[in-house]
Amino acid sequence: SGLTRLDFLGLAGLGTGALVLGGCSALSSTRQNPPTARSTYKVAEYVLEASVLKLNLGGPSVETWGYGEGLPGPEIRLQQGETLRVRLRNRLPEGTSVHWHGVPLPNGMDGVPGVTQDPVAAGESFTYEFRADDPGTYMYHSHSGLQLDRGLYGPLIVEPENETLSYDREYVLTIDDWLDGVDGVPEDTYEKLRAGEGEMAGMEGMSGMGGTGGAEPEPDVKYPVYLINGKPPEEPEELEVGRGDTVRLRLVNPSSATIYRVALAGHRMTVTHTDGQPVEPVETDALRVGMGERYDVIVKAANPGVWQLAARAEGTRKMARAVLRYEGTNGPQPPPDLEPRELGSEMLSYNALRSAPGIDGVEAGSPDRVVPITLRGDEETYVWTINGQAFPDADPIEAGRGERVRFEMENTTMMPHPMHLHGHFFRVDNGTGRGPIKDTVLVDPKQRLAFDWLADNPGDWAFHCHQAYHQEGGMMRVVKVA
Ligand code: C2O
Ligand code: CU
Repeated sequence: SGLTRLDFLGLAGLGTGALVLGGCSALSSTRQNPPTARSTYKVAEYVLEASVLKLNLGGPSVETWGYGEGLPGPEIRLQQGETLRVRLRNRLPEGTSVHWHGVPLPNGMDGVPGVTQDPVAAGESFTYEFRADDPGTYMYHSHSGLQLDRGLYGPLIVEPENETLSYDREYVLTIDDWLDGVDGVPEDTYEKLRAGEGEMAGMEGMSGMGGTGGAEPEPDVKYPVYLINGKPPEEPEELEVGRGDTVRLRLVNPSSATIYRVALAGHRMTVTHTDGQPVEPVETDALRVGMGERYDVIVKAANPGVWQLAARAEGTRKMARAVLRYEGTNGPQPPPDLEPRELGSEMLSYNALRSAPGIDGVEAGSPDRVVPITLRGDEETYVWTINGQAFPDADPIEAGRGERVRFEMENTTMMPHPMHLHGHFFRVDNGTGRGPIKDTVLVDPKQRLAFDWLADNPGDWAFHCHQAYHQEGGMMRVVKVA
């Protein structure tokens, strides 16, 4: 497993550089104290290696690409106000990049090849460095083509300087979809979609798509497979809790094409953050997590036993799962396909969320600029557009620096689109004036949805659908803040 910075706290003040552990960890961290006592500048330093790796899908193992030894990539965790410095080493056979999803940072560090930087060529390195001023649950991932879908992602946690939540245990759950065949080549999946073979809706059509690259799929593997922290449903991660514990779960969805409906049997969840930003706590049985979204929830461990935590892939009967086990409880795991009763209840909606009081954000109703955004797609050709244009043959969207901008989106298609804006947070307009602060928002089929944001971070920022195949099919724009 990846080392966290805590492993190296003892090195603070030694002024060491990054430390790489040969073979067994792609990531390491050292702490550096400032050379002068006056400075409060702190650097969390990591080395991140993108390379070919083997992944166990609950029986057969597949070769794919990732950061470090497996999926997800190693957790990167730092303190608000610290500077993150990550040396990316590209051991892949093609160019790559790292995007720090959700983090407002200087444009040059945003990791979008062709927009904010050249791709980092095979065999080359690149150092990302930025100050993490906004605490929250984020992720990092490749922004090169469909590489994200091979497994090039990991969680990024920025802890607040003053933590107001109190909890006994914390688990980060990254929920991924493994869509296609044994060789896991997303470009083949994309070509099939373009050719009109297979479909993404509900992904029932995906099960026949295994065995790309000439390899026969193992008969016992039915694609897609859904993974929590890289683990298939047959070998789930066990989350241990003590009776009476307050448990924080950070739910992260790096999937290319799956919205999850998440519930924990025998327990309710209290949502505390959307995309890392605090909301007024709201209790629910179940919630939806779209591609690119993150939710932080608190669970009161007051119901001893062994419980299913299920993330059902929307539109299917399949799920990713983990198991919540109370200490001292030796019972067997619930069966892999056991659906928690809580999943049958209503999903939490954006309308039920209010940003926490005192959160800075753009107030609704007073935009300097209103931008209509029409989302269209053609299932036949798999071309997806924003206002009729498919990236990269698309004009930039202009926003004046300092302007309050309102994006009024209309989804004309029959697919949900998780729309993600880089470099900024926005406020979802849910009619209350206090909609949740987010960076990724699901626009459901035939739905209209608006968000407001302050264009205070100059540069060229990607705005796109986080369904990776829609993004690849053109549903992306550059937003120019100048
Ligand atoms: Cu998660 Cu444009 O990215
Ligand atoms: Cu989409």
